[in-house]
Amino acid sequence: MKKIGVFTSGGDSPGMNAAVRAVVRTCIYNNIQPYGIYEGYRGLIEGNIKALESKDVSNIIQRGGTFLRSARCKEFHLVEGRQKAYENILKHNLDGIVAIGGDGTFTGANIFNKEHQIPFIGIPGTIDNDLFGTDYTIGYDTALNTVIEAVDKIRDTASSHNRLFLVEVMGRDAGFIALRSGIGVGAEAILVPETPTYINELIAKLESGTKNHKQSMIVIVAEGDDKGGAYQIAEEVKKHCPNYDTRVTVLGHIQRGGSPSALDRVLASRLGNAAVNALIEGKTNLMVGVVNKEIKFTSFEQAIKHNQTINMDLLKLAEVLSC
Ligand code: F6P
Repeated sequence: MKKIGVFTSGGDSPGMNAAVRAVVRTCIYNNIQPYGIYEGYRGLIEGNIKALESKDVSNIIQRGGTFLRSARCKEFHLVEGRQKAYENILKHNLDGIVAIGGDGTFTGANIFNKEHQIPFIGIPGTIDNDLFGTDYTIGYDTALNTVIEAVDKIRDTASSHNRLFLVEVMGRDAGFIALRSGIGVGAEAILVPETPTYINELIAKLESGTKNHKQSMIVIVAEGDDKGGAYQIAEEVKKHCPNYDTRVTVLGHIQRGGSPSALDRVLASRLGNAAVNALIEGKTNLMVGVVNKEIKFTSFEQAIKHNQTINMDLLKLAEVLSC
């Protein structure tokens, strides 16, 4: 390994910068020239690739977003796009690539690795935490803390006015953000895409809260819930409970920004370092993660197949604690 390229792709997540820093510094430590590929797969296709020095990654460990920028690149879905990317990798003599992203990023890497023999190692960077082969993805912990901080504020005003709030959090296919943030804020109910939502059960839960003289009620709704987002659920609730003073808050992209938490910075540093070491050892087509505090490698194929299941014990815990 003489030259390694690194890019960030898909939805950005807090801690991506810390991961790029770890890749760059580990390369330099091992006398490898790191290259930054700008705007994910688009940068590979367009040849937006530049050599990086140690100072390029100074003062970024604490910053949200990604200084390499990110993109969701449709052209990489096409054989022609991937061929262009391959040619640019050859042109810059890159011996290996570190791809930081989520499901879509590794789906692309997996297809690319079947067509071209370029070593690829993936680092899980997404707030969704929906990849198999790692306990946490980079950005998930920070996003959870952002949600919790926001919902605590909503709880203040909800209690003052005796209101029901439906708070929508990100996760179009996965309820990991909803589940843990819901437990963290003491939500009265948590609705996730992984389990069917029954409006009558939700109403029964809310009615019992009213009977228990709760001054406020918070329902956390993952954006991909099978009954729709928070606005749709609110409409259903209003039909059955017109007397409730109901409000909706969609937290949106605020969840993707901000300075990474301690957990995300350390995770990103470990994974960035491990990714470069893996390329040096000749590994390829793998995602590096942390399972039970240990570095673990999982094939892209496995990581993306939605094998990561929601923890039913945590859902039960949320139900018990919200009675
Ligand atoms: O994949 C991360 C994520 O934040 C999802 O939770 C969300 O559904 C999606 O990205 C939003 O994507 P975009 O910023 O492209 O609208």
